[in-house]
Amino acid sequence: MEQTETRKRIFSAVQPSGNLTLGNYLGALKNWADLQDEFECIYCVADLHAITVRQEPAELRKKSLDTLALYLASGIDPQKATFFLQSHVPEHTQLSWVLGCNTMFGELSRMTQFKDKSQKHADNINAGLFTYPVLMAADILLYQADLVPVGSDQKQHIELARDIAQRFNGAYSPTFTVPEAYILKSSARIMSLAEPERKMSKSDPNVNASIFMLDKKDDIIRKFKRAVTDSEARVAADPTRPGIYNLVNIYSCLTGKTSEETEREFEGKGYGDFKVAVGEVCADALSGLQAEFARLTKDKGYLDGILREGTEKASYIARKTVSKVYRKVGFYQGK
Ligand code: TRP
Repeated sequence: MEQTETRKRIFSAVQPSGNLTLGNYLGALKNWADLQDEFECIYCVADLHAITVRQEPAELRKKSLDTLALYLASGIDPQKATFFLQSHVPEHTQLSWVLGCNTMFGELSRMTQFKDKSQKHADNINAGLFTYPVLMAADILLYQADLVPVGSDQKQHIELARDIAQRFNGAYSPTFTVPEAYILKSSARIMSLAEPERKMSKSDPNVNASIFMLDKKDDIIRKFKRAVTDSEARVAADPTRPGIYNLVNIYSCLTGKTSEETEREFEGKGYGDFKVAVGEVCADALSGLQAEFARLTKDKGYLDGILREGTEKASYIARKTVSKVYRKVGFYQGK
């Protein structure tokens, strides 16, 4: 790492579980690419987090590399940002243990994501699911990140990371940068096409509810055509009509237009025409990215090279933090 770095540092991660959706693209990946000039960015594929829910090993391996390729295809530049897989940097788990000993059972019990996931996976409420937020705090604190771009569903986890950092700093002397959530604009909050009150999710069992970044044009158009709307048949950014509101938002995000411009463009037109138009711009926006993805995934050597370089850069920072932490908590380090 350069000694002269003065930009704020950003850390974020995405789990390689499921297929990334349009929501991940507009809400995260596309924004991450926009941040890489202004900030020093470290992006991670959170494969350790992924196994809190049962994964098929071959699938996980493939998805991890696919996720990396999607980051790159979305415009994140490995010359500017650091990329790596979480499991390649063992300091994440090392720090996680120490932080876990500075996190209260009660705090973890209050995490809404834990409660949700316990309900969804009632047959597999494992300890990792419970301590998931500690590992996430370790991800962030390991790199002394200033800002963490996340969707609002992750805000509670960032709050916890801040609490843990402050507690540790108070108990052992200043060690960690206290990170801040960098909540992305609500305009980038993409909702399910089937249940527009809920966020579009890569783990939604209903495949028609989500547009996946690698969906083919026909599927994209078909899914938009089937998107749940209402009977008012007026294209408007009206939050009381979440279905059409979501479609206006998606169209506006993809075209760079304001909601008002979108409303005007489709004034007097029916939902049918509008849905096809949304499908068309979406398929167009994703087609270049998909071609780049196809090119990249054919070149495993290139992807492995990027990972090696990223791991090296990440490890350098991670080692420094862990060695500091180990010293502070009193682990004997030899003479
Ligand atoms: N929990 C995040 C999610 O599911 C992914 C994640 C893991 C993360 N570690 C992180 C996000 C650290 C930000 C910072 O979206």
